[in-house]
Amino acid sequence: MPKIAIDTTIVENKSITDDVKELIVYAPKIAQQAVPGQFVHIKIATGEPLLRRPLSISNVNVEAGTLSLIYRIVGKGTAYLANLRTNDEVNCLGPLGNGFDLTCERPLLVGGGMGTAPLIFLAQRLNPRTTTVLMGGRNKAEMFWQPMYEGLAKEIHITTDDGSMGTKGFTVSALPELVKANQFDRIFVCGPHVMMEAVAKFAKEHEIPCQVSLEKYMACGIGACLSCTCVNKLGDKRKKVCTDGPVFWAEEVL
Ligand SMILES: Cc1cc2nc3c(=O)[nH]c(=O)nc-3n(C[C@H](O)[C@H](O)[C@H](O)COP(=O)(O)OP(=O)(O)OC[C@H]3O[C@@H](n4cnc5c(N)ncnc54)[C@H](O)[C@@H]3O)c2cc1C
Ligand code: FES
Repeated sequence: MPKIAIDTTIVENKSITDDVKELIVYAPKIAQQAVPGQFVHIKIATGEPLLRRPLSISNVNVEAGTLSLIYRIVGKGTAYLANLRTNDEVNCLGPLGNGFDLTCERPLLVGGGMGTAPLIFLAQRLNPRTTTVLMGGRNKAEMFWQPMYEGLAKEIHITTDDGSMGTKGFTVSALPELVKANQFDRIFVCGPHVMMEAVAKFAKEHEIPCQVSLEKYMACGIGACLSCTCVNKLGDKRKKVCTDGPVFWAEEVL
């Protein structure tokens, strides 16, 4: 599929929490082509060298021609994005990367922190009657994701580190019970690296195929600069997260 770099228009840039926002951009061609797990690379016009920042596509509305990007304000680039207003223009390159493999019947989606964003789009393309979602975060305030998954899964489970919502503990601690009660044929996981490693290890022990979505610093986003490579466990050649991923089978990269 051709990658499209286009000047898109901001439809809305709304606050979800103090430091998390949802950017809705009008990009009909990208919305039409995008598959779950892909991302866009957004140009940040700060006056300094024009760099882009990668953000996962967390939702598309093909009819309206829009993409939704949910982002946490962590530095200069995301602070720049946070100041954009309706009708401002932003240049968007995408859809980039390889998405999730959807050939499964009873998936478990595991999201941690901002890693929960791309799983919304994934859940939309799976069967809600057979999909289970497990999401984790530090506390109740970080569990603003829950309403976004309503209607997309038969069950939504929550863990928080401090126990202020759902079960107290990490997402991985909820896995044994969930796996006992369901016959998952796939686990998809996106979140902090240590969480993905723990979930992938659990999946391997239980012989459940597992896909992970990796995050790396990216410069070009299109396979040209090698700034995003990661170890390839199944071969000699390092993998590029931007073009070989960001979604990988767990045993390839963890
Ligand atoms: C494929 C992909 C998809 C992503 N999707 C999302 C998303 O949906 N929502 C979202 O909020 N973020 C997402 N990110 C992370 C996002 O790209 C970074 O938070 C953003 O680039 C930070 O830019 P900045 O200029 O604001 O911060 P910077 O000034 O560049 O950095 C600020 C802080 O964030 C850390 N940081 C920056 N980039 C990364 C990174 N790639 N991985 C880990 N830590 C980083 C830095 O170490 C530093 O502490 C994604 C990253 C990738 C590679
Ligand atoms: S970001 Fe340049 S090769 Fe991946």
